[in-house]
Amino acid sequence: SGNGSNLQAILDAIRTQNLPCAVQAVISNRKEAYGLTRAEHANIPTHIIDLQHFQNKNAFETALATCIESYRPELIVMAGFMFVLSARFVKRYEGKIINIHPSLLPLYRGLHTHQRVLASKERIHGATVHFATEELDAGPNIIQATVPVYNTDTADSLAERVLEKEHIILPLAIRWFAEGRLRKVGHQAFLDGKPLPSSGFLLKT
Ligand code: GRF
Repeated sequence: SGNGSNLQAILDAIRTQNLPCAVQAVISNRKEAYGLTRAEHANIPTHIIDLQHFQNKNAFETALATCIESYRPELIVMAGFMFVLSARFVKRYEGKIINIHPSLLPLYRGLHTHQRVLASKERIHGATVHFATEELDAGPNIIQATVPVYNTDTADSLAERVLEKEHIILPLAIRWFAEGRLRKVGHQAFLDGKPLPSSGFLLKT
């Protein structure tokens, strides 16, 4: 739904950093999503599954699941997918669906995180990659990266700084999964057989 910059970071990491995976398809719920253009430029199949074309959310999610399953993916990455999927839908893919969220979860779940962080005069902000579960923005954290908040920051300047970290931690989480190092066991994320801290792996860059 956004600019597709996280998708681009994944595609770039595949091309230039030997990220050991391939993007099978890009699915968007909005035809305007620029990620679709980025996928087309990379010769990756795209699908638009728009809620407006369906009787209800259930029919939409059935169509989405059918499309996903036609590719038999090992991992589903929600990168800027700004649609709240039902608990039943996410449960279907538990352990093989991850999400990136622009806050230090569990702080600032939901939308407009940068505006809320500024309003709360936080000094630290960041992004989190987590396993998606039936509860929104609440699955076990995998990786977090922090950014400082400056007095001069606007939501846009903060979003830009957070996105730079997103573009590092999302490909890294995907790399760990592709290498068989990252797994979800129960409500916990494990890396190399050891449980990750509840905050996830804190990336220092
Ligand atoms: C990012 O902050 C992402 O975390 C959120 O949407 C924003 C835009 O992402 N879900 P992208 O540029 O569309 O990848």
